[in-house]
Amino acid sequence: MKQILFMLSALLFCCCSSDSEVNAVEPAQAGKTLVVYYSYTGNCRAIVNTLTSQIQADVVEIQPAEKGLKYEANGYALGTQLLNAIQANPNDLSSYPAIDPVETSLGDYENIIIVTPLWWSQMAAIMQTYLFQSASAMAGKHVAMIVSSHSSGISGVVSDARRLLPEVTWMGDALWINASNHANRLSLIEAWLKNLNFAEGQTTMEKMYITIGGQTQSVTLVDNAATRALVEKLKQAPVTVTLNSSGGFEIWGALGFSLPTSNQQTTAEAGDVILYNGSNICLFYGSNSWSYTRLGKIDDLSGSELQSFLKAGESNINVRLALDNMTSIRASLTPDPSLKGEGSIYSMNGQRVKNPTKGIYVKDGKKIAL
Ligand SMILES: Cc1cc2nc3c(=O)[nH]c(=O)nc-3n(C[C@H](O)[C@H](O)[C@H](O)COP(=O)(O)O)c2cc1C
Repeated sequence: MKQILFMLSALLFCCCSSDSEVNAVEPAQAGKTLVVYYSYTGNCRAIVNTLTSQIQADVVEIQPAEKGLKYEANGYALGTQLLNAIQANPNDLSSYPAIDPVETSLGDYENIIIVTPLWWSQMAAIMQTYLFQSASAMAGKHVAMIVSSHSSGISGVVSDARRLLPEVTWMGDALWINASNHANRLSLIEAWLKNLNFAEGQTTMEKMYITIGGQTQSVTLVDNAATRALVEKLKQAPVTVTLNSSGGFEIWGALGFSLPTSNQQTTAEAGDVILYNGSNICLFYGSNSWSYTRLGKIDDLSGSELQSFLKAGESNINVRLALDNMTSIRASLTPDPSLKGEGSIYSMNGQRVKNPTKGIYVKDGKKIAL
């Protein structure tokens, strides 16, 4: 009976919706990933286990506050009733079934993967509660979704997700796992993650440090062949490049060497560190879409701070790339050419000093004693 009901609903659903729409991929961000799931009969839990065997992620399970309910009893009466209540009044939290409190701080995560069952071609009511109450905390996050159904198409769940989370960046199309392909979920999830650049983009590596005009900022690198080669290069010695502003969104220029590419159509955003054409580095203070290889993201700077740090609009900008910010050690051996400019005086760790006292400093790229 269950199968017939679902097949009927699947047929009905297929007539009025399309699951074949393909959206552009927004690749996973460098940083931490959270997997949020709800599972009533265990399929989503199995999907999460498979998923977390392939990426590093924290996992949180959403639980209904009321335990032991039978959503499928009496022809799925309770499940239907919960969904109808949400549909009748979707902007009111009291329309949603109560869930246990979730302690996880969403602010710690760059990427969130939602794994949810489909109920009557909609998102399972319990997961809807969590997303409704987390919408503002998730704003700006990169979010992807896996939907598990018996056989119905998932467009209705995708619509629910977009309604519940209007301010997130969707990474690409949701992955649909159903009764007929559940056993193949390993390869399905693997291909889906690769498409979202998760396999390479999700794990964080060591930091790189960028110094411009005496200010040093850390960069969280993504883990891919390009960053691994870059790290090897920087282990030998820091690299200084000369970059120029371009297009009102980046400073860029030749690295002087090539790195392996894994180019993908990418919308680069402010703070992104990107490899272009295999041998050019681009530091973004605005946004642009192109076929790029991601290297990482500059940490903790606002849009205006980035513009100032990257000297947006200027030309011939000296940019030093290194694996540590121990400017002091290097400055004591060789003055750092990037610590030049306007006669300013810098401490040995690269901070501009307004009123230097007695000591060793860097001025116009040279070490001086006061
Ligand atoms: C209340 C309820 C309604 C459901 N409605 C549908 C449906 O309309 N179409 C479908 O294909 N599957 C439907 N299912 C089946 C689930 O989507 C499917 O079994 C899913 O894999 C369950 O995930 P879980 O085991 O993690 O809870 C429904 C299940 C429940 C409990």
